[in-house]
Amino acid sequence: MEKIAVLTSGGDAPGMNAALRAVVHQAAMHEVQVIGISHGYEGLLNREFAPLDLSSVDDIIQRGGTILRSARSERFKSEAGQEQAVANLREAGIEGLVVIGGEGSYRGAQALAERGIATVGVPGTIDNDIPGTDYTIGFDSAVNTVVEAMNKIRDTATAHERTFVVETMGRKSGQIALTAGLAGGAESILIPEVPYNLDNVCQRLKWSAARGKVHSIILVAEGVASGYTIAQEVKKRTGFDTRVTVLGHLQRGGAPTAFDRILASRLGAQAVESLLEGGSALAMSYVKDEVLAVPFREVFAGKKQINRSLYDLAAILAI
Ligand code: F6P
Repeated sequence: MEKIAVLTSGGDAPGMNAALRAVVHQAAMHEVQVIGISHGYEGLLNREFAPLDLSSVDDIIQRGGTILRSARSERFKSEAGQEQAVANLREAGIEGLVVIGGEGSYRGAQALAERGIATVGVPGTIDNDIPGTDYTIGFDSAVNTVVEAMNKIRDTATAHERTFVVETMGRKSGQIALTAGLAGGAESILIPEVPYNLDNVCQRLKWSAARGKVHSIILVAEGVASGYTIAQEVKKRTGFDTRVTVLGHLQRGGAPTAFDRILASRLGAQAVESLLEGGSALAMSYVKDEVLAVPFREVFAGKKQINRSLYDLAAILAI
């Protein structure tokens, strides 16, 4: 291969820039030219192509967001859109494509691979909801953002002796809430993967109050319910002064943690290696500190599990 392209797609995640940097450097080592495609699959359809040389990825390892910008494309989901994308890549002489994004972006990458464009995926999403990889790029940064927010919320919760419901992102996944909840000492963690009983949650809050703990944080993953709904129910059942914080897109921004930078660097470099080895329809994955290339089909057939022991431990530590 002499020319490959890279794009970032779906929700941005801290560390996407570090992955781009790794793609460009690894390709340069093999004297392969890299084309950056702006605005994800939408930009692929609009031929938003520009060469990425080493200087274009200077000074970005520490930056959140994505210098290529990101987008969600409806047009690309159609047959006609995918044919147009393939035609645009062929016309530009692009022989391989690295897609940095979540599972939705992987499905687009699979479609291109089926149409004869060698395409590989790099897991970039704060949600950590992609099967076949222990972690996705951006998850650790998002978790740290949530923990930092919890520290601050706890100060005011204690000062006013209040109960806070904090809503986290994650789509249908509770990975962010679970991990941040354990690290931030949440009194309760509500995630889609584990059924919950609000009466039990409230009972535990009352026990804690009875032993003198007058503040608490309930972390609720967006895939469970709105933080406002939970707060209303908690207030009704306990009478406690309750407030809500929806962390929202704060969780997507900011500098990537060292963990995410290293993860992104390793996975981005491996993506180029996989393409140059002739691979296609492969997802770069991080499993037990090893970097692997897993077929998209296996990823789509899998189900990302939570680590139940973390959930159980968090419940014990919260009492
Ligand atoms: O997939 C990342 C994510 O931030 C989810 O956690 C969230 O549900 C969604 O994207 C929000 O999407 P948007 O930025 O389009 O509002």
